[in-house]
Parts: sequence; C-alpha cells; structure tokens
Amino acid sequence: MQDTIFHGSRILLGVSGGIAAYKSAEICRRIVKAGGEVQVVMTRSATEFVAPLTFETLSGRPVYSEMFERERAWEIEHIAYARWGDALLIAPATANTISKMASGLADDPLSTTVLAFRGPVVVSPAMNTAMWEHPQTTANIALLRERGVRIVEPESGDLACGEEGAGRLADAETILAALEDVLRAHAGDLAGRRVLITAGPTVEPIDPVRHVSNPSSGRMGFALAREARRRGARVTLIAGPVEIAPPPRMEAVVRVRTAREMCDAVLEHLAGQDVCVFSAAVADYAPENPSDVKTKKETRGERETLTLVRTPDVAREAAARRIPGQIFVGFAAETENLAANARAKMEAKGFDVIVANEVSDRNPAFGADDNAVTLLDRSGRESTLDRMAKEDLAGPIWDFIAESRTRTE
Ligand code: CTP
Repeated sequence: MQDTIFHGSRILLGVSGGIAAYKSAEICRRIVKAGGEVQVVMTRSATEFVAPLTFETLSGRPVYSEMFERERAWEIEHIAYARWGDALLIAPATANTISKMASGLADDPLSTTVLAFRGPVVVSPAMNTAMWEHPQTTANIALLRERGVRIVEPESGDLACGEEGAGRLADAETILAALEDVLRAHAGDLAGRRVLITAGPTVEPIDPVRHVSNPSSGRMGFALAREARRRGARVTLIAGPVEIAPPPRMEAVVRVRTAREMCDAVLEHLAGQDVCVFSAAVADYAPENPSDVKTKKETRGERETLTLVRTPDVAREAAARRIPGQIFVGFAAETENLAANARAKMEAKGFDVIVANEVSDRNPAFGADDNAVTLLDRSGRESTLDRMAKEDLAGPIWDFIAESRTRTE
C-alpha cells in the first residue's frame, strides 16, 4: 500500500539562471503529477530564460521571484516558504547560486529561502565546463557536500556555449531519484502509510434542537492525526462535531454527526488503510424515534420517557470488513480494573492495540487537555504514560503502535 514518496510532499524548487532552466519545468510537472505540491522560487536571471507563468501554470502556485512585492510585503515570504517545504531542490544551480550558498549570502528570494530552510537540500548544477572545473566551484561544491547537501553531478556532453565537457544538467530522472532519496531518508516511520482516525463525540438527535451526546473534545484524535501526518502518513480524519480545527495537510476530513454517519464514513474509507484508530467517543445509544419538529412541553407530561436503541458499533463493523494486515487501535474508558477491562475489550473487539484511559476525579480524561493512559497490545506489552498534554501523548502512542506493527509483520 506504499505510494510514491512525492504524494502529499511539498517541494521547494529553486530555479537559477541558465539555459537549462527550461528543463526544470519538466521536473515540476512530474512532481505535481505524482501528487506533490511545488513552490517555485526563481532568481531574476532565471526569469529571463523561462517565464514565471510557465511554472505558475504547472505548479498552480504563484512563483516567488521578487523580494519586495508591495501587495505581499506584510508576509515574510522566504521564511514562510522555508517552513512550508519538506525538501529544497535547486535545478539548475548556477556557479553563482552555488557560490552564494557556500558563503551564506542572502540577497534574493532563492538565496534567502536557502538560508532559512532547515530540511534536506538537493543541488543540481549546470554551467560551462570551465566554470564547473574552476577550483572555486570545486571548493564550494565540496563545502556544500560536507554540510549534507546532496549534489547531482552534471553530465558531460555538448553545452549551449558550444563547448563539450562536464556541466550539462543531469536528466530529470536522475534528479528526481536523488530528491526521492533524500525525502525518504528524512521521512518519518509512517511515510506513505494510510491512516484512518475517528475522533470527537457523536450526537444523536432527540429533535432538531436537542440531542444525546458526551463531552469528548476530539483533542486526542486530532493530536494523533497531526502526529501521524508529521511522520509522513496520509491521514483520513472522521470527526464528530468538535470546536477545534483539524490539523493541516489531512488527506480528507469527513465531518459527521451521528454514530450511523460515522460508521458509514469509516466503511466508505476503510479499503486501503494501513492503520485505523478508533478514538471517537461514539454514543452507544440513540433516541429511537427522533422528531422532525421541535417537541413542545405542553404536549408532554411531567415525566417523560425517552426510548434509546443501540447505535452501530463502528469499530466492530469495520472489523467485520477488515483487510488482512490492517492494524486496528481502540480506546477504552474505564473507571476500575483498567488494564484487565481494557485487555478484555481489546480481545472482544479485535483491536491489535488498545489505549486505556482511567476515568476518575484524578484523571477526568473526557474533554480535558491532558490525560494519563495505559497502552496494551496483543503480544502482552503494557506501557503506562504519565498524565500529560494530549498533544504530547500522540508521539508515544504512535511509537507503541509502530512497535506492535513490526511484531505482527
Ligand atoms: N466504539 C465504536 N463504536 C461504538 C462504540 C465504541 O467504534 N458505537 C469504539 C470507540 O471508538 C473505542 C472503543 O470502541 O475505540 C470503545 O469500546 P466500548 O466497548 O464502547 O468501550 P467503552 O466506551 O469504554 O464502553 P463500555 O465499557 O461501556 O462498553
């Protein structure tokens, strides 16, 4: 179920001024076709060789080529782009751009972005043979290599200047392979994996203005979604009504209200998932006959009976259609015998891993900002995490899931 590493990736493509600039249009196109996003940053001389419009059309994003454009002056663009990108590719990289990189100069959109960027960098030089072989260029390249920059050696052949020798931009295939390589080396342990997460409460209507629900905030599920994305997963988040905003860069965010809707959404998205995490606090019962109109107290007596019926068990229904190899992670809220009850729930519902919350005055869990949990898996592993922010729990929970996965694979 692995996808190409470019899917969902954000690539900064630096284009400096050389005749080979037109070749990076093909590189841009290929990354976009593979499902990546490309932000092109051009030097002024690059714009003399290829019109920014070419890259804007291919990438679907405005090219960054002017430092102090009036209408964008409020934004510090090179910083914003540097934070945005997963990797920076400079193709073609001229002798001048390479020299600026080696000495830390920052006087245009590309060089400032380079200096502000913390992720992996690939440089694909293209220039005249004499310039490529100049001792200064050799020293600059050696320095960049030493600092961890991946250099894609130029090829030998006929050059635009009429000479023959080393200096021609490597072909798109070679450059993309190097970029893939560095992305993979920097990818998290969930790179290319698909993860489905249910989060938040469900609300079961009594009438259009009243419902049965619980105080789940969705924070734990959203934190797990954010962390999974950070580790490289493609995340489908299926959320009941919550007030917090979903994390960025989700594959899909499906909003649902009732347990039935949540169940339908999960079943619709189940195929192709590698890990399913059921963190939603699904209402176990729903009013049997919700009214289409607001019910009036005048028509009712002093005592009112609401008949509730069981809702679908989302995790169980998903388990019935589970594809071999899928990892299911459940949650359990227990007021007593935490580990024993959670282990029984894991077995009964076919989870591979269960996250057990103690619900007590000491650990309110529901709706709170932090939580203390015990993690259990089928191989008998058990790990207790101290009370901490739900955002901080997400990391150790994914570590635990990853460990269980390697045991079952
Ligand atoms: N779950 C679900 N659909 C439901 C109910 C629960 O998917 N209708 C999932 C929850 O997301 C959680 C796990 O199943 O992962 C919880 O199981 P459950 O048996 O409902 O445990 P509790 O909520 O702790 O309820 P109880 O102990 O009262 O049975």
